[in-house]
Amino acid sequence: MSSSLLSLHDVSKRFNQKTVLDQISLNVQAGEIIALVGPSGSGKSTLMNAIMRSVELSSGAIFIEHKNIQDYRNNKTYAQKVGMLHQQYDLVKQLEVVHNVLAGRLNHWGLWQSLLSLIKPQQRHIAEQALSAVGLAEKINQPTAELSGGEQQRVAIARLLVQNPMLILADEPVSALDPANAQNVLALLTKLVREQHKTLIASMHSVEYAKAYFDRMIGIKDGKIVFDLQTNQVSQQQLNALYGLVKTD
Ligand SMILES: Nc1ncnc2c1ncn2[C@@H]1O[C@H](COP(=O)(O)OP(=O)(O)OP(=O)(O)O)[C@@H](O)[C@H]1O
Ligand SMILES: [Mg+2]
Repeated sequence: MSSSLLSLHDVSKRFNQKTVLDQISLNVQAGEIIALVGPSGSGKSTLMNAIMRSVELSSGAIFIEHKNIQDYRNNKTYAQKVGMLHQQYDLVKQLEVVHNVLAGRLNHWGLWQSLLSLIKPQQRHIAEQALSAVGLAEKINQPTAELSGGEQQRVAIARLLVQNPMLILADEPVSALDPANAQNVLALLTKLVREQHKTLIASMHSVEYAKAYFDRMIGIKDGKIVFDLQTNQVSQQQLNALYGLVKTD
């Protein structure tokens, strides 16, 4: 058996009559750091949401560790396999940073422990550890709303570290950030993924950042994979064709 962590077999998705994912097949090994690139509307978010199980497939199948993702009955179990980082950090802004970070723990906790944690943070040391990993240890009791965009995205990364999934999906994780913060967050995210032997798939609007931080690049257009290469093998011509900058026929 191969060491494939994730595999997609002829995955298609239609919304109403429109085909948004068109027979996508793909294999990802544990430890890979992959950028998904392609024009707006090409299907990147839909693909990630399908892997997250928040979009139902029209046909095809997705496997994590050779098991159909439909067969992970329990969301808690699935959260140990796959976690997602969003463009808008979806933190609860009114709460202190510590509560947002420990929300990553909800999959491991029962209801009472989760509710109790809102009064008195449970396992504060877990939050401290994750916040130090993202360089925000001193912000643990700060209201989340008082943090900058880049800092909030780092809190969201700390929450993912606490959730501790094998595969991290990131949907345009830095497109709401200025260039300095964007590079900071990408450098941090890819470093942590490497150090902790996780696997990352991120959709990226910036090809420049995709080249700088990712090992493998998958180009998607109209719901189809148009290239799937090591980042340093992707040519300018392929990128131009992907974004429709030149005529290819
Ligand atoms: N829930 C939905 N219902 C109907 N159509 C949808 C839905 N979600 C996505 N679509 C359509 O599917 C297509 C692909 O959308 P998707 O969000 O996956 O693109 P994307 O590559 O992530 O684009 P962007 O780079 O702008 O984020 C678009 O045409 C979009 O309008
Ligand atoms: Mg998208």
